[in-house]
Amino acid sequence: MTLRELHDAARAALDPVTYDYVAGGAGEERVLAANERAFDRYALLPRVLCGSETRDTAVDLPGAPGASPVVVAPTAFHRLAHRHGERATARAAAAEGAVLVTGTAATTAVAGVVAAARGTAADPAVWFQLYPHPRRDVTEALVRRAEDAGCTALVLTVDSPVFGRHTRDLRNGFTDLPPGYAAENMRGLPGAPPGRPAAITMSPAVSWRDIDRTRRMTALPVLVKGVLHPRDALLAVEHGAAGVIVSNHGGRQCDTVPAAVDCLPAVARAVAGRVPVLLDGGVRRGGDIAVALALGASAVGVGRPVVWGLAAEGEAGVRRVLAALRDEYDHTLALCGGRRNTDLTGDMVVRREETW
Ligand code: FNR
Repeated sequence: MTLRELHDAARAALDPVTYDYVAGGAGEERVLAANERAFDRYALLPRVLCGSETRDTAVDLPGAPGASPVVVAPTAFHRLAHRHGERATARAAAAEGAVLVTGTAATTAVAGVVAAARGTAADPAVWFQLYPHPRRDVTEALVRRAEDAGCTALVLTVDSPVFGRHTRDLRNGFTDLPPGYAAENMRGLPGAPPGRPAAITMSPAVSWRDIDRTRRMTALPVLVKGVLHPRDALLAVEHGAAGVIVSNHGGRQCDTVPAAVDCLPAVARAVAGRVPVLLDGGVRRGGDIAVALALGASAVGVGRPVVWGLAAEGEAGVRRVLAALRDEYDHTLALCGGRRNTDLTGDMVVRREETW
C-alpha cells in the first residue's frame, strides 16, 4: 500500500469527526495545503558517480544517537485512531529506530508509552512534548513524569500561545474528547480537579523566561518546536535549546504563515550548525526528506501520515509508513549520488520554476 492508499483506508476506518480532527487545519486551511504543495516547487539536482553500495542514513539527535531521519511528530489522541493507541505507535517507532515524540495530549500516560517502546527495543528514544504552562509547578510535574518514564529529551511547543481555530472541529462540534478518553498525562497535576485530568492550558504570556526555567528544571536536552522566524531560531540557541524544530503545527495554528519548508533555509542559516534543525509539515515522500535535509534539516517529523497508518493497520500500519519513508529517502539519496545525509547540500536544490 502506498501512503495515499493508507490514508484512504484510514479515512474509511475512522469516525468522520475524528478523521476531520486529524486531517483538518486552521482557518481556510491555506497553510495546511501550502505545506505539501511547497515541496512540489523544489527539485533535486543530483550529483553523479560519487555514490556507494551501502548508505548510512542514521542521524545523531539529542537523546537519540543513530536515529532514523524520520521522527514521529507529536499528535494528540491516538486512542481515537486505533484501540491500541499510543502503545502501538510506540512499538512501531521503536522497531523502526525512529524517535517518537509523545505529548501532553496523548491518551496514554507517558510511562505506558515508554514501557511499550521498551518492549520492542532495548534503548528506544522517546521525547516528551509539552506546552510551557503558565504555572511553573504544573510544567515541573510534567517534566518529572517524562524523566521518570525514561524520556530522553523534551520538546517545548512554542507556536501555540492560544488554541488554533480548527474550522472542521468547530463545524463538527468536536470540542472535547468522547467519554472514556482523556489526556492521561494531565491527571493529578497541581490544581487539577481530583480524579480528573487538568485542561491543557496555553498562554500568550509565556516567554523565553519560561523556556529558561524549564531548561533549569532538568538535565534532559530541550528542543524548541514551532519556530519560523530566523531571529527566534537564534534566540532558541541563545536560550540553550538543544534543537530547533521548524514547524507551523501542520497548518493548525496561524493560517497566514508560510509553508514550513520555505522557512527552513533562513532558520538553518541562523542556527549555523550549532544545534540540529528539524522540519515538520507536509513531508509525504522520500524526495521531500531529501529536499529538507539538503536545505539544512538534520531530520524531519511526520504527523498525519503516522496517524493514518495507525488508523488503517495499527502498529503494522505505523511501521509501514516509517519504513516506506525511510526506504524512499535512502533510494533518493542513492539517486543523488549520496552516501550519507550530509552529502545532500543546498546547491543540490533548485526551484522548479527556474528549471522549466
Ligand atoms: C498535531 N501537532 C501537535 N503538535 C504539538 O506540538 N503538540 C500536539 O499536541 C499536537 N497535536 C497534533 C494533533 C494532530 C491531529 C495533528 C495533525 C498535529 C502538530 C504536529 O506535531 C506536526 O507539527 C504536524 O502534524 C506536522 O505536519 P504533518 O506531517 O501532519 O503535515
